[in-house]
Amino acid sequence: MTESFDAPTVIRTKRDGGVLSDEAIDWVIDAYTHGRVADAQMSALLMAIFLRGMTGAEITRWTAAMIDSGERLDFTNLRSMDGTRLALVDKHSTGGVGDKITIPLVPVIMACGGAVPQAAGRGLGHTGGTLDKLESIPGFTGELTKAQIRQQLCDLGAAIFAAGELAPADRKIYALRDVTATTESLPLIASSIMSKKIAEGTRALVLDCKVGSGAFLATEAESRELARTMVDLGAEHGLTTRALLTDMEVPLGRTVGNAVEVAESLEVLEGGGPDDVVELTLALAREMLDAAGLDAIDPAQTLRDGTAMDRFRALVEAQGGDVAALRAEALPLGEHSETLTAPRGGTMGDIDAMAVGLAVWRLGAGRSMPGEQVQFGAGLRIHRRPGEPVAAGEPLFTLYSDTPQRFGAALAQLDGAWSVGDEAPVARPLIIDRIGM
Ligand code: URA
Repeated sequence: MTESFDAPTVIRTKRDGGVLSDEAIDWVIDAYTHGRVADAQMSALLMAIFLRGMTGAEITRWTAAMIDSGERLDFTNLRSMDGTRLALVDKHSTGGVGDKITIPLVPVIMACGGAVPQAAGRGLGHTGGTLDKLESIPGFTGELTKAQIRQQLCDLGAAIFAAGELAPADRKIYALRDVTATTESLPLIASSIMSKKIAEGTRALVLDCKVGSGAFLATEAESRELARTMVDLGAEHGLTTRALLTDMEVPLGRTVGNAVEVAESLEVLEGGGPDDVVELTLALAREMLDAAGLDAIDPAQTLRDGTAMDRFRALVEAQGGDVAALRAEALPLGEHSETLTAPRGGTMGDIDAMAVGLAVWRLGAGRSMPGEQVQFGAGLRIHRRPGEPVAAGEPLFTLYSDTPQRFGAALAQLDGAWSVGDEAPVARPLIIDRIGM
C-alpha cells in the first residue's frame, strides 16, 4: 500500500510548532489504529502535541478522526420494557483522585428513569478508572457485546462498558498516554473524552471538569477552556453537552484506590457516605436529569429509599458481578498496610490530591506498563479530612498494597502533602461553575 503521508513528517510538523492538515490528521489516526504507524511514532507525536498544543480546528478534526476509527452506537429507537423511549444521558469526568462518582451516580439515574450507556475508562496517570474499580467486584466485567449493551439499556437502564470497538484509536492512544507522560494535554483530553462519548450513542452528556492539584490541567483557566472545548465539540455533533467545574484540590471522600472506592460508594448507596461524594453525585444527577428532560423524581430520595442500591445490584448482576460481595468486608483489600499518624494534635489541613493519587498509583492501583494488571486491593484510607480535629498519635492515612516493597515510594510521595495545624484550611465550594447551559 502506498501511504499518502509518513509519520516522521507529521511528527516534525507538530514538533516545530506547525498546524496539521485535515488529511494528515485523518491519515495518522487511521494508520495508527491499523498498525501502520508504530507506538514509538505515535508517542513522539503525542509528546509534540503535549508541548505545542493544537488549534481549535485541529482538535475538531482529531476528534472526528477518532470517532471514525470505529463504530458509532445508535440507540435512538430503543424502548424500555414499558414501551417508552429511553432518556439517554451520560456523565464523564476529566479525571480526579478518589473520584468514584460514576458508581453511585449511574444507579441514581436508573432509579430516576434515565438510561446510561456509559463507555468507561481504566486508570490514567495518577487518576483511577471506573472499570478498574468496578472489576474489583468479583466476576464483574466491562467487556460487553453490543447486544448486551442494548439489552441492559432496555431491561435495566444502564450499561458500563469498555469502549471496545468505539473510538479504538482512543483505546490505543489512551494506553500510550498513560505510560508516556502525555496525559495532561487539553487537546488530548478533550478528543479522548468526546470521541468515546459521541460514539457511545448518548443523547445528552454532563461533564465533570476538575479544577485543582489533582486535575490534569494546572489552572482553573485551563480547566474552563477544556470544559468549553468539550461543550462545543458536543454541540458540533448534535449532543446536548454541559459541564460542571468542580474542586479537585483535595481527594473526594475518604478512600482512594480500586475496591476501597467501591466500598465507599456502597455507603453512599445505603444513604450515608462522605458529604462531598453525596453532594457531587446529586449535583451531577440533577444536571443529567435536567439535560435528559427528566426531573420528576428527587435523586436524593433514591439514595434514602434504597431504590438506587437495588438498581446497582441489578447492574452488577447483569455484568457478571457477585452481588454477595457487595459488602466492604467481602471486597479485596491489600494484604499489607501502613498507617501514618498525627505528629501533634490540631486540625487537619488540606491534603494534596495529586500526591495522594501518585501514592496510590505507586501502591499498585494503576499501571506503569501498558496492559499491566492493577491490584484491586491497593488503596488509601483518609481518616481525617481537611478541617477535622485530630489528637497526637491518631491515624491520618492507612495505605494498602499486596506488595510491601511499594510502601516506601508511596510514603515518600505523601511527604509534605498534608499538615496538621492550629487553624482549619480555607473552605472552597465543591461546585465552582456551570458551563454550557
Ligand atoms: N478521561 C478520558 O476518557 N480521557 C482523558 O484523557 C481523561 C479522562
